[in-house]
Amino acid sequence: MKTHDGEGTLAERVVRWQRAHGRSGLPWQGSRDPYRVWLSEIMLQQTQVATVLGYYERFLARFPDVGALAAASEDEVLGLWSGLGYYSRARNLHRCAQAVATLHGGRFPGSAEVLQTLPGIGRSTAAAIAAFCFDERVAILDGNVKRVISRVLAFDGDLAKAAQERRLWTLAQDLVPTRGQDMPAYTQGLMDLGATVCLARSPGCAACPLQAGCAARRQGEPERFPVRTRKLKRSAQSLWLLLAQRTDGAVWLTKRPGTGIWAGLHCLPVFESAEALDTTIAVGNGAERPATSALAAREDLAPFVHVLTHKDLHLHPVHVSLEAKAQLGIEGAWVSAIDWPALGLPAPVRRLLEARALDGLA
Ligand code: ADE
Repeated sequence: MKTHDGEGTLAERVVRWQRAHGRSGLPWQGSRDPYRVWLSEIMLQQTQVATVLGYYERFLARFPDVGALAAASEDEVLGLWSGLGYYSRARNLHRCAQAVATLHGGRFPGSAEVLQTLPGIGRSTAAAIAAFCFDERVAILDGNVKRVISRVLAFDGDLAKAAQERRLWTLAQDLVPTRGQDMPAYTQGLMDLGATVCLARSPGCAACPLQAGCAARRQGEPERFPVRTRKLKRSAQSLWLLLAQRTDGAVWLTKRPGTGIWAGLHCLPVFESAEALDTTIAVGNGAERPATSALAAREDLAPFVHVLTHKDLHLHPVHVSLEAKAQLGIEGAWVSAIDWPALGLPAPVRRLLEARALDGLA
């Protein structure tokens, strides 16, 4: 038996549900300005709405349009991004703004097909921007939406295989509303269902507008979908972080290389072993001091694990206090306690420095 709320095609049910129960009132919703929508979609890619809100407002205040963002330095963009993580997003954001400025006359392209050619804009993000801003009838398929669609259809192809993923894209495209004007609510509705109802481990089928037609639910085990054989191969690495601090509170920071972990960010000096760190502080703490004094002032802080996408980082911070004139024999510079908070820093490094600054006040 069909309830009134459950009537119609899948697209109609998603659209009706989104308008009544989906997320609304978020600052990027209701805007059809591709710059604002693009910025929100990039920020939301791996980050929760609650975290994105403050960053989104600060970015828009500093960079009100794509030209302002294109004209900024990468350092400033990374600084404003600091704490959101996945910094390749910020570097691509900046490159994308520059591509829009130079290749597209400062205007975002008006179709998903062309949006997709820009740095950091994949097929699903391009579709989301085109659906929200231009009513284009084009399917999104991010991680959450793959779950919703594969369950509704009981699609059991292995999404680790490119051919199966292509099949799911085709099926998703067949489901979009017939009317372009329904695309924004439909697209947002699929995202909202994936984020709030059709959860990976505990699907909330009772609250789902698609329950009546959901093949995975009918089979009795919706959690079985999507099917993906390949497990993410995770690795672990131990790193030692040198938190060298002067008596006036300045800390020694160095810029990370353009590739690898924390690329392009400002960071504490990183060592692959405790011995390598010890060697640096023994030889590099200024000629007028005995080589052992920094070692003597060395304090091992509590190690902790920082989880990256493919890797668990076991971080071992080591604090040393140095005199005002001390130099370290490694790349970098002293950065005052006034200046470091505005730099692009890896989240665990920022937390360490903040904790240390509070200790200093205590
Ligand atoms: N995640 C990705 N895009 C989103 C959006 N527009 N709203 C909420 N969460 C999202």
